[in-house]
Amino acid sequence: MISDVLKVFRGLSNKDFRILTGIEMGMKHFEWVPVEDMNKYTKLPVDKLAYRLKKLVGNKLVVRTFQPYEGYQIYFEGYDALALNTFVKRKTITAIGDEIGVGKESVVFEAIKEPELAIGDPIPVIIKFHREGRTSFKQVKRTREHIGDREHFSWIYAARLAAQREFDILSTLYPKVSVPRPVGHNRHAIVMELAKGSVLVKTKLLNPEWYLDEIIRQVKLTYSLGIIHADLSEYNIFVSEDGIELIDWPQYISTIHPNADELLKRDVSNVLTHFDRKYGVKRDLEELLREIKAAGVTAEEAAEEAAETETETEIASKEIAETGAESEAEGANIIR
Ligand SMILES: Nc1ncnc2c1ncn2[C@@H]1O[C@H](COP(=O)(O)OP(=O)(O)OP(=O)(O)O)[C@@H](O)[C@H]1O
Ligand SMILES: [Mg+2]
Repeated sequence: MISDVLKVFRGLSNKDFRILTGIEMGMKHFEWVPVEDMNKYTKLPVDKLAYRLKKLVGNKLVVRTFQPYEGYQIYFEGYDALALNTFVKRKTITAIGDEIGVGKESVVFEAIKEPELAIGDPIPVIIKFHREGRTSFKQVKRTREHIGDREHFSWIYAARLAAQREFDILSTLYPKVSVPRPVGHNRHAIVMELAKGSVLVKTKLLNPEWYLDEIIRQVKLTYSLGIIHADLSEYNIFVSEDGIELIDWPQYISTIHPNADELLKRDVSNVLTHFDRKYGVKRDLEELLREIKAAGVTAEEAAEEAAETETETEIASKEIAETGAESEAEGANIIR
């Protein structure tokens, strides 16, 4: 469990981070990183290395095998610790708080970021640790195409690609569409501002018509930029006094995707069903779809946007495949 990782994280030293980074890098070449190679990566004397590896195994950040040789793999939790360490060192965040969400494909924590130029109040943000490779076979399979025979590393690639994709699309949409401001990303994790209010499914709205209009307006705006959310529902919409925010973007698609019509219809239909069931507010699905599509860009523009995004993702996955791991091995202090 990641909550334990936070506890464990505070006790990790620079040397531990060096070992974790070493295993991360070694996993580009080995299913199980041989202990001999760890000496090479970490430059630690054998006895010190053995002691620390044992501790990391005990903390469930890494896993060990003795057959056919002594070797190590990093767990998601070890990978979380590396990303967290990078965020703290970069001052992307200065403190981390409670877990606020566990999705099918992520674990989400509240955190704090210092204000820009150190003026004003600290900014509430969240860290979303992606978990795609663990739960989504489809995603892993797709990612495999990029990684060839390095299948053992696939969950790391899957989660990294999903985080990259989500960070890129938030950067494209913000601030034109009402989405949380993206703040930073590293490995399989992204930091974004905390959405205001609470998730639609847990809210009782006094003025549902207004919120429904606002959601449709944001869907239209997104579509006009050549993008469809593709997992929109009352679970991925935040509502507050100020308006709405759309979250959870890694599965977005382009409006020229072969399934674009079907997925747009599903998105809008999910929202309409919620407002009908909970508030008795009814709207005509087909009419709304026509309206949204009329706001769309031309096919050429959408193709251009899709090609750009595609190239970005390709470059990103290539970079991931090439670098595999960053070599930041310094420890960082985390404040609560
Ligand atoms: N920017 C944010 N501000 C506030 N809370 C957030 C934010 N992003 C995510 N959360 C919380 O974390 C939960 C999971 O996030 P998200 O929906 O992005 O991930 P997910 O794993 O894809 O979820 P699921 O598979 O359940 O849809 C959300 O339901 C929400 O409670
Ligand atoms: Mg979600």
